[in-house]
Amino acid sequence: MMISVKMQKALNAQIGMEFAAAMKYDAMAAHFEAEALPQAAKRFFKQAGEEREHAHKFLRYVLDSGGRVQIPEIPAQPHTYRSSEAAAQAALDSEMAVTKSIHKLMDLALEERDHATAAMLQWFITEQVEEISSADQFLRLIQRAGEKNILAVEDYLADTAGQK
Ligand SMILES: [Fe+2]
Ligand SMILES: [Fe+2]
Repeated sequence: MMISVKMQKALNAQIGMEFAAAMKYDAMAAHFEAEALPQAAKRFFKQAGEEREHAHKFLRYVLDSGGRVQIPEIPAQPHTYRSSEAAAQAALDSEMAVTKSIHKLMDLALEERDHATAAMLQWFITEQVEEISSADQFLRLIQRAGEKNILAVEDYLADTAGQK
């Protein structure tokens, strides 16, 4: 095995965190769809797909390193939010928590002089900059429009769909 037992455990926990993020975004998308906001729903269904890809990237890495994959139990995620802003804030908070976790993984890789894992994690560190920026932008968009003008957010999302 090319990774330590400690690293294997930490990477398996990260796989769980990425799947939890996928579930969170699928539930959030369902919430937006139920609130008749299909563009916001689309945004989060897409985001959920990306999180599953992240989980698989980590999963693939554990396998390629000769480790054993153990997907942890995924806790149930919230399926309702009191407002669009609260959902957008939860998405940003989630990205912040994931970023912190990935930075901790990098700390461990550096501590163990595990260059291969550090190289793999570099992609995620760059990806998280993008993820936080996008979650922050979505939150500010909703705040600027306000709940009453939430359809302006839908229009904006429809106009910019596929640009990113
Ligand atoms: Fe992710
Ligand atoms: Fe993410």
